Amino acid sequence: MEETNNQQLITKNQIVGVLGAGSMGSGIAQIAATQQHNVVLVDLSTEVLKKAKASLTKILNRLEEKERIPSAQEVLNRITFSEKVTDFNNCGIVIEAIIENLEVKQKVFSNLETIVSDTCILASNTSSLSIASIASACKKAERVIGIHFFNPAPLMPLVEIIPAVQTSEETKTVSRQLIDDWKKVTVLAKDTPGFIVNRVARPFYGEALRIYEEGIADFATIDWAMTELGGFRMGPFTLMDYIGNDVNYTVTETVFAAFYYDQRYKPSFTQKRHSEAGWYGRKSGRGYYNYAEGAEMPAANKDEALGKQILDRILMMLINEAIDALFLNIATKEDIDLAMTKGVNYPKGLLAWADEIGLESVLNQLETQFNEYGEDRYRPSPLLRRMVKEGGKFF
Ligand SMILES: NC(=O)c1ccc[n+]([C@@H]2O[C@H](COP(=O)([O-])OP(=O)(O)OC[C@H]3O[C@@H](n4cnc5c(N)ncnc54)[C@H](O)[C@@H]3O)[C@@H](O)[C@H]2O)c1
Repeated sequence: MEETNNQQLITKNQIVGVLGAGSMGSGIAQIAATQQHNVVLVDLSTEVLKKAKASLTKILNRLEEKERIPSAQEVLNRITFSEKVTDFNNCGIVIEAIIENLEVKQKVFSNLETIVSDTCILASNTSSLSIASIASACKKAERVIGIHFFNPAPLMPLVEIIPAVQTSEETKTVSRQLIDDWKKVTVLAKDTPGFIVNRVARPFYGEALRIYEEGIADFATIDWAMTELGGFRMGPFTLMDYIGNDVNYTVTETVFAAFYYDQRYKPSFTQKRHSEAGWYGRKSGRGYYNYAEGAEMPAANKDEALGKQILDRILMMLINEAIDALFLNIATKEDIDLAMTKGVNYPKGLLAWADEIGLESVLNQLETQFNEYGEDRYRPSPLLRRMVKEGGKFF
């Protein structure tokens, strides 16, 4: 299909619609309104809208006190809180951030099309659903795209832009330009499970859980190795407790199924049982750690050799995942590294880290693991093998 290059960019005087006023939707509304757009924030629930307004007022007042924005009231005045989807009729773009359910999203997108103008872009903030299947619910599927923010949206710099097979070049360019104008770091990702970050980061949780299950180390020791020796901001168990074991387990299970049960993404019984027990983490007061008042945090075994073994094992799996994402053209090497540093605060891009360690050493460590276990989960990416054979680096 021939593409036109005379696309109209979304300007500050165009209205941004946000559907769903939960944690992501209200964050996205805050960003757009701070960036001078008038925003229509819609949710089914009056209660949620009230909460979103109260929480945005509090956040914006704090930002004004810290002199990060000139006036909280001015930003708030730009947001219309509404229960009516029909209020989206004048929007240049609508970003959907409702419940993560394909059928519901498809119904909502199909209905949105009857309300918005012909040129309005329809974006989804989905973390795990295929953009192609959401777009398939629309007559003008070429206007649909994935725009994936990270939590908390106003603070996390990264946004993944995910065109579906149906998405037009114009929708892609206009959407990316808009989010760039909002001073976010955008990366372009293929419409595949987990996009970049939620795919490449799987071993951070999965391999940590596996190390625990094998009895090699406890939660505190694994967290210590990853933060102290690896420079990660949070250890995997602290992070899973922060995200919520219910949420994190569901993402893992979804990604596992979406990859046709590739063993690399196999979920863990430890996490499943924690989730079933209601040990979600911070929000429930107990996860891998106990967050009750006065509860003591367990001490790590700070054995350097053990710590290094833990770090290396998880890091090689992360690097292998990043290399495989590049091998399969999920994104460019620059975007893969940016995604992990700006979306989940990794201390270094994984491909740059691989260069630093040496690709031969990365391959050797993975092969040792693969030979010892005989499990497909440890298979090195063909691109890693090829690069070691041919010599060279990623950067
Ligand atoms: N929470 C995260 O860390 C995170 C990060 C990135 C992306 N996401 C994605 O963003 C989306 C929203 O996640 P969230 O965490 O903000 O959820 P949330 O539960 O906090 O908010 C969802 C909101 O959508 C509203 N809603 C549900 N159906 C609706 C409908 N048909 N019309 C209007 N409003 C409706 C609900 O009332 C609720 O307020 C999901 O697709 C999720 O996968 C979440």
